[in-house]
Amino acid sequence: MPCPEKKGRCGIYDKMQTEYVVMTEDSIDKDAILRAGRILKEGGLVAFPTETVYGLGGDALNPSSSEKIYAAKGRPSDNPLIVHVCDADAIPPIIGGELSGCAGEWRKLADAFWPGPLTMIFPKSTKVPYATTGGLDTVAIRFPSNKIAAALIGAAGGYVAAPSANRSGRPSPTSAKYCREDLDGRVDMIIDGGPVGIGLESTIIDLTGDEPIILRPGYVTRDMLREVLGRVEVDRAIISDDSSVKPKAPGMKYRHYAPKGDLTVVNWRGPLTVQYIRKKLEEAALSGRRTGVICTDETAGEYRADLVRSAGARGDYEENARRLFDILRSFDDEGIEVIWSESFSEEGLGEALMNRLKKAAGQKVVEPTL
Ligand code: TXA
Ligand code: MG
Repeated sequence: MPCPEKKGRCGIYDKMQTEYVVMTEDSIDKDAILRAGRILKEGGLVAFPTETVYGLGGDALNPSSSEKIYAAKGRPSDNPLIVHVCDADAIPPIIGGELSGCAGEWRKLADAFWPGPLTMIFPKSTKVPYATTGGLDTVAIRFPSNKIAAALIGAAGGYVAAPSANRSGRPSPTSAKYCREDLDGRVDMIIDGGPVGIGLESTIIDLTGDEPIILRPGYVTRDMLREVLGRVEVDRAIISDDSSVKPKAPGMKYRHYAPKGDLTVVNWRGPLTVQYIRKKLEEAALSGRRTGVICTDETAGEYRADLVRSAGARGDYEENARRLFDILRSFDDEGIEVIWSESFSEEGLGEALMNRLKKAAGQKVVEPTL
């Protein structure tokens, strides 16, 4: 199927026909995977499931495929793409020269976490076009564990560039229906492999310096990384409240995940937080605004709002993480104008969860007061 013609620098497309195929990891439709692989080899785009979120795939070694990805997502082209592989032996050809600093330790990380939700950053070889790395001399690489993803990458020749399969700025898609919402008519094929297992994007670790640095928190937590490497730092921009600190992962500087409604995170202080949010809801309702709440199973019955969404039981980070992006999208469907969210602990996987929630709120976090 031919890819759409680019009409201008920001990539306005003629609408194209998107093919939908459905499969599960246990029963992979091999014909559809071969077709999808051919589309990628010919420079087209395919959205596909991974264990973290759905990806929007193109041939990572073909600069025009990467340009099409940026255009289909509406993403700034200085925001580099992750190259997905289906075999750790695919790494050496795309990383550059002598590995200095901590990059030599990548095999330890690969043994511990691949296939899985960890992305590593290396100096790039000339095989990887600058169109894929957003002009950087480094390349981000991940070996996903989802079997549909692995089959597709193999069928496509081994190197698939894939950002999350959402339109730029929206929450990453955790099921194929959200890929359809954002990308119908903009990609050649969408592979529906059911809802994802993790729900937050991969952890990104930079191995290009002397010390390993986490650029984006994810399912692989800093304690898990420290256990394998003995040490790990976290990019200051992630932990600092100072928004002038520039993140090392270019994508982390952009506004992300935000619902159209005005979202505020309220620090969790037990009943005080519940009372504070209830008071805010009453005030907003009096002024005629449509209200929403993000809470937990324990508190969901306490709130009267146009949309109350529980992220699961407090402390069940895996469930909270799995539900977050779906919850953020649901407020837009209901035309919610103002939203309050309880905060979650930042321990373990909670660090990634709160990183995404705070980003969605434009870092607006308040202390509850009465
Ligand atoms: O779980 C995931 O990682 C998903 C699935 C589809 O694999 N992908 C994903 O891609 O989240 P994306 O493009 O939405 O986010 C990639 C992030 C961006 O913040 C980007 O700036 C950063 O990775 N990144 C990519 N290459 C980089 C590089 N060479 N140096 C620093 N940051 C990089
Ligand atoms: Mg993304």
